[in-house]
Amino acid sequence: MTSKVTNNNAALSSPLILAIESSCDDTSAAILQGNRVLANVVANQAVHEQYGGVVPELASREHQKNIVPVVQHALKTAGVGKEELDAIAFTEGPGLMGSLLVGGSFAKTLSLALGIPLIGVDHMKAHILAHFIDEGKPMPEFPFLCLTVSGGHTQIVLIEAPLKMTVVGKTIDDAAGEAFDKAAKILNLGYPGGPVIDRLAKTGDASKFSYAIPKTDGFDFSFSGIKTSFLYQLQAEMRQNEKFIDENLNDICASYQHHIISYLLSKMEDALIHYDVKDIALAGGVSANSELRSRFDGLAEKYGIRSHVPKFEYCTDNAAMISIVGYFKFLENAFDGLSITPKARLHF
Ligand code: KG4
Ligand code: ZN
Repeated sequence: MTSKVTNNNAALSSPLILAIESSCDDTSAAILQGNRVLANVVANQAVHEQYGGVVPELASREHQKNIVPVVQHALKTAGVGKEELDAIAFTEGPGLMGSLLVGGSFAKTLSLALGIPLIGVDHMKAHILAHFIDEGKPMPEFPFLCLTVSGGHTQIVLIEAPLKMTVVGKTIDDAAGEAFDKAAKILNLGYPGGPVIDRLAKTGDASKFSYAIPKTDGFDFSFSGIKTSFLYQLQAEMRQNEKFIDENLNDICASYQHHIISYLLSKMEDALIHYDVKDIALAGGVSANSELRSRFDGLAEKYGIRSHVPKFEYCTDNAAMISIVGYFKFLENAFDGLSITPKARLHF
């Protein structure tokens, strides 16, 4: 079954799109006109902090509570009436099934009620295409390579056109964000751990401790060995000195962060040489990391190519990035029928 398509010339050049993101623990709604964001509202779920990670059941319930007020807030901020919308985009996957279902069901219902097209969006592609939101700064030129680093994924992606992407490297176990979050949990720093480690690392000595360097093929990654070597080193030090963490916290964070970033960048360097690209981009929650952002720019400078790091607001999960994929799919008339179902695993 296909939704009714209400294209007119004005809408075709700069459609008004409502996007919904609910793949994990943030409920977000955005309004996009053409490739310009009019509103991007994100409701974070503090409920998970006490558990040291996202509790899926609680996440779905929070989405259910937040979705209507978040969408209303986005429409109000954008000054747009729902009857003016040309399409609704939503996160199809990957993500937590219960969370995806809330956003997906809401989007389907509204698309049916308003008689406008529905567009399912791949969350990982959205992280990458966030670089094409008009912010008045240069956008990546095709083909380019993107290092996508989030709480669930670590990928190197070759992008040849907005809707033509190939994963050329990926983690074979944990994601980079997970490596940050798990270390933070061991250090008792709360969830999510990435931002805390980033902050503490700023005043630490990154050369103080060293960890295992994984051996992975091609442009693939592995983080489980780094995490295990981190844990074993801490346990050994704690046996000698039970105050080891307190006395060395900033140095531990700085060394661990530096190690993860050096590993990410070494693979990215191999890939940019291999594919001979002139543009490299960073995407996903971990791209908010201050050391990664500055060293990524340094990598591009070394090769005389252009680097693109996302605006902070578009690093972690948000609906603006879903809306820009909605825009590219709208231009191609790539709409979905109402039988589309969310997918916890979605590969491209
Ligand atoms: O993309 P995202 O918001 O959600 C997923 O799709 O997974 O990424 C969340 C991840 C978490 O693992 C979080 O710890 C990490 O991004 N993160 C960071 C920073 N800010 C968020 N990691 C390192 N440094 C940061 N500043
Ligand atoms: Zn994400």
